[in-house]
Amino acid sequence: MNGETIRWEDDTGEVSLLDQTALPARVRRIRCRDVDRLADAIRRLEIRGAPALGVAGAYGVALAAARSRERDLPRFLAGVTESAELLRSTRPTAVNLSWGIDRVLSKIRAARSIDGCRKAAIAEAKAVAAEDALTCHRIGDHGAALLPDRCTVLTHCNAGALATSEWGTALGVIRSAVATGKELHVLACETRPLLQGARLTAWELARDGIPVTVIVDSAAASLMQAGEVDCVIVGADRITRDAVFNKVGTYMHAVSARHHGIPVYVAAPRSTFDPGSSAADVVVEERAREEVSCIGNRRVVPDDAGVRNPAFDATPLALVSALITEDGILRPPYDLRATGKRGRQS
Ligand code: MRU
Repeated sequence: MNGETIRWEDDTGEVSLLDQTALPARVRRIRCRDVDRLADAIRRLEIRGAPALGVAGAYGVALAAARSRERDLPRFLAGVTESAELLRSTRPTAVNLSWGIDRVLSKIRAARSIDGCRKAAIAEAKAVAAEDALTCHRIGDHGAALLPDRCTVLTHCNAGALATSEWGTALGVIRSAVATGKELHVLACETRPLLQGARLTAWELARDGIPVTVIVDSAAASLMQAGEVDCVIVGADRITRDAVFNKVGTYMHAVSARHHGIPVYVAAPRSTFDPGSSAADVVVEERAREEVSCIGNRRVVPDDAGVRNPAFDATPLALVSALITEDGILRPPYDLRATGKRGRQS
């Protein structure tokens, strides 16, 4: 899926992305000609998943630089910075979004001319995307070694090629394991309310010929109890010094897995680590009521009932058996703070 999730279109100077809200029914691309359209795409989840948001943030700043008509360098920089802050405000939880934005901003601020800024921005954004692909393959290679030769893996949400430049984090581990000849069966939790598991993970894996079965989120615990799950692998939006923030429901799976003695692996690049923060510092995005109260065009919750729709939850690191990064496997006790961005590695 190289460049399929999101890419820079050299011929038009646009950012194009696969519309993840249309999958699996339709495979269609969206072309973002300006930062406002890209910001909308991020808010609507047309592009989503922490590493892909990092790439989107990077391309977004490059887009702002490419589209600016300013001829005065300070005013140009002010305009690009304003666009960067707009992009940053679109989704608060995934730390990768700000990371990608800041990488390109710092290149722009070091350039001496507007033309130099534009060239540096596009080059750096492309580098962010290319590095992400490489990082995912390295995560996959490290993680594959953790899996038995034959196993059933439960995953939640989508941490695949659609959530990254290519390959994926959690699904990267699965893909790499399959590539080494291991026989895997994936249980994809549907991931209410927006069904990233049912729509996206199942689409990706089925396309690759990797056996995948979709379950409702609430079936996970009983399948663990029945001995039908060998391990849980998920991605992450932010890893603080004490918790893994990932799609809401991850915590529920981790609690169930611990009860049944099943390992929980979290696969994530270094750009997702935020060891300077603790769980209490993180803003968990609350999304629109309609995502829960309606299924398609049908209202399924009475108007006078309240709805809560937190998009993420925090799984304490104490419930995580290993963190799989591009640099290797981190195992408990995790001391991400004392070691900068590095815990003990095997
Ligand atoms: O709301 P989403 O779809 O952006 O949430 C995505 C997730 O929770 C993913 O599991 C996470 O970003 C890791 S993606 C490699």
